[in-house]
Amino acid sequence: MPPADRLPSAWILRFAPRVPPGPVLDLAAGKGRHAALFLERGHPVTAVDRRIDGLRPLAATHPRLELIEADLESGSSWPLGRRQFAGVVVTNYLHRPLLPAIVTAVAPGGWLLYETFARGNERFGRPSNPDYLLRPGELIDAVRGMLEIVAYEAGETDAPAVIQRIAAVKPLADT
Ligand SMILES: C[S@@+](CC[C@H](N)C(=O)[O-])C[C@H]1O[C@@H](n2cnc3c(N)ncnc32)[C@H](O)[C@@H]1O
Repeated sequence: MPPADRLPSAWILRFAPRVPPGPVLDLAAGKGRHAALFLERGHPVTAVDRRIDGLRPLAATHPRLELIEADLESGSSWPLGRRQFAGVVVTNYLHRPLLPAIVTAVAPGGWLLYETFARGNERFGRPSNPDYLLRPGELIDAVRGMLEIVAYEAGETDAPAVIQRIAAVKPLADT
């Protein structure tokens, strides 16, 4: 069994079967624990990180994994242009100026699965910088008017940590 930090989050595992066929974006993908999950489920996956060396072993065995090396916080343009995805996954990462682009990157009928640390986590250690901690209700505010919230949780976990997590779907365009 892989080490715990290579296992998918229980939140992402729970909602992965709801993501419709089509490409999945794993933003700030790290070593690709969620990229691997969605590749195994048959999705083409685009993984973005400022360091992609940790993703190369996965790419070597999965031709449908696209790696994009990009600094998401450099002020350069969003590295994915106008591309949209059946699933957008973000875990343990926050750069709040990206939130609108993240929501826009969800295709109609697609899902946003987002889980990261929130205010209060500083009691338990890192991250403790408020720039990396969601404010109360911030994920709900980020999707308001754009996505329908299917599930949301906020608070302390057994880790221990303080997190917010959301699963939300973009309505299909009116026909
Ligand atoms: C805590 S790790 C989470 C990785 C993965 N999402 C997971 O949950 O396993 C945060 C990731 O964000 C990436 N990251 C941090 N700052 C970044 C930036 N400015 N641009 C792109 N990626 C960044 C790091 O390289 C790291 O892989």
